[in-house]
Amino acid sequence: EQNKRESLYIVTNFALDFFKDQLHETEDGQAIGLSYFKERQFETDIIKKFDLGYAPGKNIFTKTAEEKGYKDEYLLETGLIKQNDRGKYDGFRERVIFPIHDLSGRPVGFGARTLRSDPKVPKYINSPESDIYKKNRILYGIFQAKHSIIKNDLCFLVEGYTDVISLHQAGIENAVASSGTALTEGQIKLIKRYTQNVTILYDGDPAGIKASFRGIDLILQEGMNVKVVLLPEGDDPDSYAKNYGKEKTLDYVGQNQTDFITFKTNVLLKDVENDPLKKSQAIRDIVNSIAQVPDHISRAVFIQECSSKLDVPEKAIIAETNKIRRNQFNQQRRE
Ligand code: GTP
Ligand code: MN
Ligand code: MN
Ligand code: MN
Ligand code: MN
Repeated sequence: EQNKRESLYIVTNFALDFFKDQLHETEDGQAIGLSYFKERQFETDIIKKFDLGYAPGKNIFTKTAEEKGYKDEYLLETGLIKQNDRGKYDGFRERVIFPIHDLSGRPVGFGARTLRSDPKVPKYINSPESDIYKKNRILYGIFQAKHSIIKNDLCFLVEGYTDVISLHQAGIENAVASSGTALTEGQIKLIKRYTQNVTILYDGDPAGIKASFRGIDLILQEGMNVKVVLLPEGDDPDSYAKNYGKEKTLDYVGQNQTDFITFKTNVLLKDVENDPLKKSQAIRDIVNSIAQVPDHISRAVFIQECSSKLDVPEKAIIAETNKIRRNQFNQQRRE
């Protein structure tokens, strides 16, 4: 078992070196991959720091790996090679490569972005789970971010690979992304090793808002502190950091971050201030988040805030919170 894991690391390490070599040392890699990164204003040292690469296609990876004697078993398990009735082929073709590192910096998987803007082609594809890549236990950028997370006692949670990289390049190094999966409890626990404080910085679009609702509850469940920043519509942390730089990005965050009650209130009650049905639905949604908080004193503080912000008696919120917690407790007991 341990031997198998070691064999998988050997294969992913080989792939990492291969993709980097392709990016920096081949004509196609430079003309296609490297110029793509340059167009996106990624600097040379950041390209190196994040081990970015290029997958050429034409089954060059498969041929090279087999020539060098790497075993199909491990190449297939890591998704670097795929197989159909016509034979084996490269898992990543004509894409730029974002290696995903574990906590100690070993590559365990890859994200790969297409260079085309064809809506029929998936923008990103990701390595499958394997014995060394458990998506629930990995966050993109955690290896590069962990010291800064500790130093700042804060972790920015963003959506994508390029968000992590651009923030890092701008000098905001404490950012990670869930990448390739919806955020999970295990990923939040990973952040918790380094800090209790998370600021969600998702894209300013409906998908980003929806994902931030999920993130809020997962963070609250761990008894951690969560703030939320909504970027201007059309921006993501990558574009914002590129356009405005470190100081203005941090200023924006400082001025626009809210706690989860204010965030949910703003989103759910936008344009519907006087609709009693919408208002009670919004309250229910917010109370549901409050009910996720394990510490009862923190819950009491949030209940008070919710009561005054939404002008509902505290008693009603307490009753609803207790009801939700009872139901969750009973459900967990049944499972
Ligand atoms: P760029 O367009 O390169 O700036 O990427 P982005 O990170 O801004 O992409 P987007 O906001 O559309 O998506 C956020 C994250 O979701 C990405 O970084 C990926 O991790 C993931 N994602 C986006 N598109 C796909 C897809 O087609 N398939 C999968 N599996 N994941 C995707
Ligand atoms: Mn988006
Ligand atoms: Mn739990
Ligand atoms: Mn985005
Ligand atoms: Mn983007």
